[in-house]
Amino acid sequence: MMPRVDAIWRAPLFQHELARIAVFERGRRFCHHDLAHLLDVARLSWIRILEEGVSIPCDLVYAVALLHDIGRAEQYETGEPHDVAGERIATEILAALPGQACFNEDEQRRIRSAVRAHRSHAVQDPLARVIAWADKASRPCFACPAASDCNWSLEKRNLNVRI
Ligand SMILES: [Fe+2]
Repeated sequence: MMPRVDAIWRAPLFQHELARIAVFERGRRFCHHDLAHLLDVARLSWIRILEEGVSIPCDLVYAVALLHDIGRAEQYETGEPHDVAGERIATEILAALPGQACFNEDEQRRIRSAVRAHRSHAVQDPLARVIAWADKASRPCFACPAASDCNWSLEKRNLNVRI
């Protein structure tokens, strides 16, 4: 049970932004940023953290995974990079969680900074690093019907089945 992650899922602003993303991505040929992707990132990240023996609480990992693409609709609408918009929206969502589901100040800072850093290539923070890795590793490029038009470099793509 992860009540604090459930609270993020139920947060009205989270649901609002996820619904906006779904509208913008209706008919999109490339990767979607829906619940399936967010959970793929969460589970892959958690597997990697267990394998590496890194000490990060599971609900912190799931919180960042759920929030890492929450700025996508803003990017589609205004062009603002989704990591920047995502940090701002995540801050608002985290601040509005009910008392018993609150992340403390240090946890909120870690979540916000991992959301902001998840696209960076030179991430230092272990939480942001594993999310950045899972974000790419979760995509089945080898089975993508839009691969010929995708702007990901070949090095970035997953061309084989992998965890
Ligand atoms: Fe993502």
